[in-house]
Order: sequence, then structure tokens, then C-alpha cells
Amino acid sequence: MKTKNVLDLTDLTHKELMNVIKLADEIRKNPGDYSSACKGKILATLFYEPSTRTQMSFQTAMLRLGGTIIGFDNPQNSSVAKGESLKDTITVVGGYADIIAIRHPLEGTAAAAAMYSPVPVVNAGDGGHLHPTQTLTDVVTLQNEMGRLDNLTIGLCGDLKNGRTVHSLIKTMSTFKGNKFVLISTPELTIPQYIKDIINASECSYKETPSLADAIPKLDVLYMTRIQRERFSSEEEYQKQHGVFILDKEKLRSAKKNMKILHPLPRVDEIDVEVDYDDRAKYFEQTVYGMYGRMALIMTLLENSSKAFSPRVMPTHPFKCKNPRCIVSTEKYLPSVFREAGGDMLICKYCDGRRLI
Ligand code: NCD
Repeated sequence: MKTKNVLDLTDLTHKELMNVIKLADEIRKNPGDYSSACKGKILATLFYEPSTRTQMSFQTAMLRLGGTIIGFDNPQNSSVAKGESLKDTITVVGGYADIIAIRHPLEGTAAAAAMYSPVPVVNAGDGGHLHPTQTLTDVVTLQNEMGRLDNLTIGLCGDLKNGRTVHSLIKTMSTFKGNKFVLISTPELTIPQYIKDIINASECSYKETPSLADAIPKLDVLYMTRIQRERFSSEEEYQKQHGVFILDKEKLRSAKKNMKILHPLPRVDEIDVEVDYDDRAKYFEQTVYGMYGRMALIMTLLENSSKAFSPRVMPTHPFKCKNPRCIVSTEKYLPSVFREAGGDMLICKYCDGRRLI
């Protein structure tokens, strides 16, 4: 694959994605054959936000490929604490490492990092925006557990507004024909409009409902998510949303016998522990599939990659993004970049935030 960044999984063509899924399967079946595949290569994990799975999964993926790892999981221990810009951190780390995985609380950070990085950047989660390698984890799981990625009825339940894993998963699954999304949330936590627009423009469909019990009987897949406490403006707002959706044995009674239950984890209380012992629960297997998915992705991105590409600095637009959670709100040197969406609508290239001209 030519050197490229993965800001969302849809940055891979369908063919590239299917090849990564196939490679993940091959690595899972014959791990010994790949134990030196990335010998001499270095992965940097720059985590500006807490993580257990994603960071360790990236790190074990690289170590199992024979490569090595550098990075931080607490920016307060790096020069970020001294006020270093994202641009400078990325330029320097890009000189040390061959590939960068970055997680940040602000939306669009991976896109901003990619503008200055001499090596491939993988988005390991940018605020409430996107999380492509969780989606890779999810599609590797679905391919193995369901045998297909099309014509599935997929229920997504919980914090659909702030859940970046949900946004990335829908973006990717709506590139496969005939998927039906059942969006289960409270009215306060519905999916962003831009994700609905993506489904509307695809060969898939969606419906919204506030009832998990009503939705469950028709589902092939149930993707549970936690309410994203850290993205609420106050604890009071969070408390109103928390505990609304809880999957338990009772609710599972009306589900299909071969329905699969996925969750990106961490779980708070939205899946009762008794569900862990149900054959349909796949969320712990999912974490293992994810490691093989990331091994395949790292291998693919490093193939034919060189440090040759130079930073692409774009001309700045006279308008500014209005999303207070967008990376441009703190990294002031970043150029304003929009794509036009017809009429007077502009869409921020970093965070997908919309504004009118
Ligand atoms: C998710 C994330 O960070 O967005 N976790 C993960 O990467 N597996 C989901 C979450 O935090 O709720």
C-alpha cells in the first residue's frame, strides 16, 4: 500500500480493507510466520487521553510483529506539559518512528497530525469523532463471527452522539450493501446529522428508537456502548443519561439465537455481568480480533512506506470552525480547511463540524 494515513477506516479502499481483514485472519492462524514482519520498525503511541485496550493492543501488535515501541500515555510527562504544539511534537516523533498512533480528546487531531507527519498517522480516537481501529476490530469480529459484512441488521445502543466507535462503525458498514442500522438512544444522545447523511447517501438504511427491548428481536448484531461521561458538560447531565440502557438476560430472551453482542469496552454497567456467559457475547473475543487487525494494518501501512512525503500545508479559509471541541480551537496555527457541502454549508476537514457561510 502507498504511504497513507488512517484518519477513518474509509480511508482504505474496499479492496485494501478486505485485504487487511484477510491478513488479520492469516496472522491469527499462523502467528509465528509474522513474528519478524516489522523487525527494525518503530511504532510511536501518543496517547493524550486514557486508554487500556487501544494502546496496549497497538503495542502488543507491533511487538508481536518483531518491531519496537516508543511513546507516552500521559502527555504531562512529555514536552506537551511545557506548551509544545501538536505540530512540533509530531514533526519530532515522525523523525524517530516509522508509524504513529495518536489519541486525543479533541476532534480532528489525527487529521491535524497527518498534515505535519513524515510517517503514516493512525487515528486511535479523536474526541467524540472517530475511532477507525476500533472499527477494524469490529469488522474483523463480524467477518469471523457472522461470515459477512453486508445485509446485517445492526443495533447500536447507548451514547450515539459522543461515541466515536459508533460513528466510525456506521461509516464503514454503510459502504457494504443492505445493512440496516437500528439506532437506539435517548433523544439527547442521538447520532450526529453528518452520520445520518452518510447512511442516506449509501445503499443502507436506518431507523431511530428509544427502546432496546422493542429493537432486540430483529437484530443480527447488537453493539452496546457506554455513556461517555467525559464528554458531558456537567455531572448532572451525565447522571440523567446513565443507566437508561442495560442489557441483561431477561432482555436477551427475545433476541435471535445467533445474534452477536459486541462492545468496544470499557463497560460501565450497560451490560450485566451475567451476559458474559451467554454464547452470543463476543466482546472479549473482539479485543483479541482487534490485536490481529492492528497487526495487519501496521504491516500494510509500513509496506512500501517511506519518509519521503513532505508536510502538506493547506491555504487557510477565511471562516473558522465553530465546534469548540475541534482541534483548531486550541492549536491556533492550524489552517482553516473546509469542504463545501452545497448551499451555504461548509464542513470542517478536521472534525466534520458544520457551519454556514
Ligand atoms: C472506546 C473509545 O475509546 O472510544 N474504547 C476503546 O477504544 N476500545 C470506547 C469507549 O471509551 O467507550
